Amino acid sequence: MAKKIVIIEGHPDPAGGHLCGALADAYAEGAMEAGHAVRRIRIASLEFALLRSQADFQHGEVPDSLKPASEAVLAADHIVFIFPLWLGTMPALVKGFLEQIFRPGIAFAYGHGGFPKKLLAGKSARLVVTMGMPAFLYRWYFGAHALRGMERNILNFVGIKPVRETLLGNVEGVDESVRKGWIQAMRELGGRAD
Ligand SMILES: Cc1cc2nc3c(=O)[nH]c(=O)nc-3n(C[C@H](O)[C@H](O)[C@H](O)COP(=O)(O)O)c2cc1C
Repeated sequence: MAKKIVIIEGHPDPAGGHLCGALADAYAEGAMEAGHAVRRIRIASLEFALLRSQADFQHGEVPDSLKPASEAVLAADHIVFIFPLWLGTMPALVKGFLEQIFRPGIAFAYGHGGFPKKLLAGKSARLVVTMGMPAFLYRWYFGAHALRGMERNILNFVGIKPVRETLLGNVEGVDESVRKGWIQAMRELGGRAD
């Protein structure tokens, strides 16, 4: 069944030319070849302020510059986040983006004495994370702590599940054949909207 996929590219460098961009291209190509509808959001190309207060979070609006991104996320069946690991977690730009768009009333609703209502239920996600260290080290020594937090505290909290992940390590050290394998793997994941 054809799905609506949104690819959120979280590399903070607007100049592009990074592995993250190539992975996003491959995922998008594979998905479109299989008949899925793909929308792409490059966070680095969007101008927006950081959220500064709980009052703004609860009562303010998604900034105009992020409204198309917010609408694309709401319309999607499957959300793919692609970003480099920076200081052990997602780059601040990605966190700033999520704080702006995952607001109450849009992503979740405060319950009356109960658990918050998950307004994004029914969507799935994949996290694709590149890193300088070996991926097994991040997974086994650090417990992939930032990804667990993103999965449980952000994505599951608003109803997005399952959340799958692809961790690509040693990115500066690997040879071309390994990179080609990663690109091919992204194309195949895109084809399966996975
Ligand atoms: C500010 C910054 C912080 C980084 N922190 C980490 C880190 O904590 N762990 C790690 O394994 N790699 C770290 N790296 C390396 C990046 O994860 C790596 O360069 C990136 O995944 C490469 O992908 P790209 O070619 O798409 O930029 C860091 C890089 C930068 C620029």
